Amino acid sequence: MQTPEFLLAPMDGMTRASFRSVCFDYGADGATTEMIQSLAYGRARRPMSPAFQEVLARCPNERNLAAQLIGSDPAAMAESARRLEALGRFDAIDINMGCPARKVVGSGNGAALLKSPERAFAVMAAVKAATSLPVRLKLRLGWDAAHITAPCLVAEAENLGFQSVTLHGRTREQMYLGAVDTAAIRAVCDAVHIPVYANGGVTCARDALTFLQNSHAAGVAIGRAALKAPWIFEDIKALRRGEPVAPRRAPERVALLIRLATLTCGHRPEAVAICEMRRFCGWMLAGLTGYEAVLTKMNAVVTLDAFRAALEAYLEALVRRDDIDVHPERMPQMSLDTVAHRQARRMAKWA
Ligand SMILES: Cc1cc2nc3c(=O)[nH]c(=O)nc-3n(C[C@H](O)[C@H](O)[C@H](O)COP(=O)(O)O)c2cc1C
Repeated sequence: MQTPEFLLAPMDGMTRASFRSVCFDYGADGATTEMIQSLAYGRARRPMSPAFQEVLARCPNERNLAAQLIGSDPAAMAESARRLEALGRFDAIDINMGCPARKVVGSGNGAALLKSPERAFAVMAAVKAATSLPVRLKLRLGWDAAHITAPCLVAEAENLGFQSVTLHGRTREQMYLGAVDTAAIRAVCDAVHIPVYANGGVTCARDALTFLQNSHAAGVAIGRAALKAPWIFEDIKALRRGEPVAPRRAPERVALLIRLATLTCGHRPEAVAICEMRRFCGWMLAGLTGYEAVLTKMNAVVTLDAFRAALEAYLEALVRRDDIDVHPERMPQMSLDTVAHRQARRMAKWA
């Protein structure tokens, strides 16, 4: 068996090039861009407008990076794939058949394709014919428990010569809640020869290894857990070598946040980038002494210099008190589902 791979799963609004770059520093084996609307991109007169540029950015340390397309019009998907290939900066094209947002499925896109296999096949064939880049598919098990279509869609991906598949072990009806069906993923993995990456519900490095073993997958794609702990990839590899892993301490967390902010400012207007950093501060500082006060302070910070100064002063205070460890009992009960639901609300606003 090939060495299993641990990928960063795409998350719209979260997994920009800067965040992916940090995950690659921690040993992620691959990643995917946020979804790109094929109807907009494939027909855009300025496909390199600032909005597209942000999503299409790539950091130098990124490898095995796929650009993800969403859409159900085979011609627009094909044209988008051609344009992405022409950019010469992606290693593969990924097709999104998993997005559950109401507005997305309402127009026949994302997870809606799970209940229209013929349309899904047409989209897959059109993208495959349009590009010489490897093509991948990301999907859910099916629309609902009564319509589990992943087995036939993955079989078609194999027939068409797709490079790999990432399978989220939930249905569209489940959105981001409820149990992931590992047995259903395993049945798909056992039925095909192309690599299938298991996805859904991983919360820590040990979970990822259990999921890998129980699913028979070629690897695991990790989403929300990486937002709070991008070092999860390093932890997984340490566990595989039989080494212990320990919670990351304040100096590493602060250095990581400053690095992420600096990278993000390279791709977005500074004030926007620093505002976006607030949620990462919330996730990565949680459990450190006095982190709530720092988060409050961050609400008024809009420049990289001020962001760096606030975090450095906070770290200095922690070091002076010899209190640089995370206190698990002070962690807020912010479940990963909350992340998904906030985002689902945001996506529901799409026209
Ligand atoms: C905020 C958010 C945005 C997402 N955006 C995308 C996306 O653009 N493309 C995609 O294929 N999946 C997207 N997903 C789904 C994730 O890639 C992943 O399949 C899902 O979160 C389950 O994995 P997890 O439990 O490890 O988070 C998104 C999920 C979340 C929470």
